[in-house]
Amino acid sequence: MSKGHILGIDIGGSGIKGAPVDLEKGEFAEDRKRIDTPEDSTPEAVAEVVAEVAEHFKKDMKDDAPVGITVPAVVHHGIVRSAANIDPSWIGTDAEALFSKVLDRRVIVINDADAAGAAEMHYGAGRGHEGTVLLTTLGTGIGTALFLGGELMPNTELGHLELDGYDAEKRAASSIRENEDLSWEDWAERLQRYYSHVEDLLWPDLIVVGGGVSKKADKFLPLLHLRAPIVPAQLRNDAGIIGAAWLASHHRS
Ligand code: BGC
Repeated sequence: MSKGHILGIDIGGSGIKGAPVDLEKGEFAEDRKRIDTPEDSTPEAVAEVVAEVAEHFKKDMKDDAPVGITVPAVVHHGIVRSAANIDPSWIGTDAEALFSKVLDRRVIVINDADAAGAAEMHYGAGRGHEGTVLLTTLGTGIGTALFLGGELMPNTELGHLELDGYDAEKRAASSIRENEDLSWEDWAERLQRYYSHVEDLLWPDLIVVGGGVSKKADKFLPLLHLRAPIVPAQLRNDAGIIGAAWLASHHRS
């Protein structure tokens, strides 16, 4: 990797993945490194794995280069404020301080959906779009990222809107389709309810659908009827790492 590349690290429920990102191309400069997320996924245990991933690419990192790291939670000014699908001990953790200490460099910590959205806006399905763009990630939960004029409004958390009396992600996330063994049609009905509701509240010009299941977008996106175009994400699983690196290198502090 050339020294101009920025390391992005994506902390997920099953794996912690990192790669140096070539921000001119919007792609990995080297193969990514993945390590299983520790079973007891406390901030300290996760930080050890993050350090291992960073160590793997250390020889190539400029000393003053920042690192971008995602977590699947609200991150308000570096502090984790929610824990819908992660260990509750994260709540109140100053993740930027923790990771900066173990990596001994500047770290920017970002919500996972916000990072994926930034990657799609700069290199993927939302590229060049100036209107209101909503990215949703359908995975264990539902993550959302909202943009206007290409600028991110962080921590929107629209996966937790109430839907038919439930937390929306507990009805319509991809994990729920798998756990309840829903057909594509039955799942699409729930997605229709969800996206119509979001659309009535926000009036996006474009909706981008990410998460692993976006590989199978042809099975469910054609079943949805919305005012805005709804399209699959383009960067797939790489979006979190790429967006984390992009946001780290464009962070104003
Ligand atoms: C969390 C979000 C996260 C999303 C996807 C939700 O449960 O509240 O912060 O972006 O899951 O991981």
